[in-house]
Amino acid sequence: MPSSRPRQFAANAPNDLEPYWMPFTANRAYKKRPRLVASAKDMHYVTPDGRKLIDGSAGLWCTNAGHNRDSIVAAIQAQAAELDYAPAFQFAHPKAFELAARVAALAPGDLDHVFFCNSGSEAVDTALKIALAFHSVRGNASRVRLIGRERGYHGVGFGGIAVGGIVNNRKQFGALLAGVDHLPATYNRAEQAFSIGEPEWGAHLADALDGLVALHDASTIAAVIVEPLAASTGVLPAPKGYLKRLRAICDKHGILLIFDEVITGFGRMGHAFAAERYGVVPDMITFAKGITSGSVPMGGVLVRKHIYDAFMQGPEHVIELFHGYTYSAHPLACAAGLATLDLYREEGLFERALKLEKPWAEAAMALKGLPNVLDIRPVGLTVGIDLASKPDGVGKRGMEALDLGFFEHGVMFRAVGDTLALSPPLIVSEAQIGEIFDKVGKIIKQVA
Ligand SMILES: Cc1ncc(COP(=O)(O)O)c(C=O)c1O
Repeated sequence: MPSSRPRQFAANAPNDLEPYWMPFTANRAYKKRPRLVASAKDMHYVTPDGRKLIDGSAGLWCTNAGHNRDSIVAAIQAQAAELDYAPAFQFAHPKAFELAARVAALAPGDLDHVFFCNSGSEAVDTALKIALAFHSVRGNASRVRLIGRERGYHGVGFGGIAVGGIVNNRKQFGALLAGVDHLPATYNRAEQAFSIGEPEWGAHLADALDGLVALHDASTIAAVIVEPLAASTGVLPAPKGYLKRLRAICDKHGILLIFDEVITGFGRMGHAFAAERYGVVPDMITFAKGITSGSVPMGGVLVRKHIYDAFMQGPEHVIELFHGYTYSAHPLACAAGLATLDLYREEGLFERALKLEKPWAEAAMALKGLPNVLDIRPVGLTVGIDLASKPDGVGKRGMEALDLGFFEHGVMFRAVGDTLALSPPLIVSEAQIGEIFDKVGKIIKQVA
């Protein structure tokens, strides 16, 4: 290779860790001691030096069907060979319609239309825009306020961080969207510690929405967005009855209710969507991650019929919603999505998650009493384990645990500050559940 050749064309450029600015990562610490994975299959990752790690977090809450499943891989390969791309605006390809119909069929009530995008963040911003536009097309243009919740995570778009409630994700990015307010978080350790599933205490916190209506007036509020399970902030399940109460208050005031199911969708809570678990039909559901089992980026918004219908007015040659992405319903994502939904159905993975919920919770709860364990919150096929912070810094114990998992014990999970968050692929076996918590228990003792 001539040395004058520009670096970007050099096939043998050194594998330098520096140019990649990693997302939501302590870059300097990572690059000193990189946690690299090179391949994966089913429940396991494999590092470049051939070490096997059991995946306790389904990648980033997304590989619900397990890794590199043959049928999904084959569908992506075949699609790439058949149709790489179709314009998303004014044209389409058959699998886009097929996947929309399949997703709609899984959703409760009349959530029967799907708007596709490429990530959870885009799904959230799309849902917020649809909410505003819905009120506008119905002549209620004063309904412009959006209500989120403290500790909520709705991705990283400007809409998502505005309605989100995680201070670090908001504080550096200016004034965000105007007219946003927040419900209180639903977690209270004194009342809820070591609850299995949805805590008994906290349904009344939904009544804070009535307070916000009294403050702003319903005529100014477009929508409320919440995660049925606030996962990214540390696995905080909705208290029993909370979501039904929120639905009732939204109905009373003509406010749209959006469930952000980017994590809870596609089996994590033992159903296609958590909405079903809670017996609540929201007006919109955002989804991503599990739709393709993480294999190709895709997100989307399910909307109820009356919302879609509200837009289908006026001259037919006019675009009804000025919104969309070049890669909405990308052929590779649609092929991956269809193959993934087939696997979920053929292997009964949502039902499997429901059945595993009890042994999962029991194995998690066995860690109660280990040093520094302040709370354990198993719900669905996920759990948050709060560890006490070290005196010299919030998040240090969590990162030490993550590193020990990766480098010593061969298990991958998430560390959210000092909370360990686990959410394995839904194909996990009971023996593997035992293995995961055995490793996590050893790690917790080690970081004491
Ligand atoms: C509830 C929720 N909404 C939105 C997002 C953002 O998704 P993405 O990272 O695909 O943009 C996430 C990601 O974890 C999420 O948990």
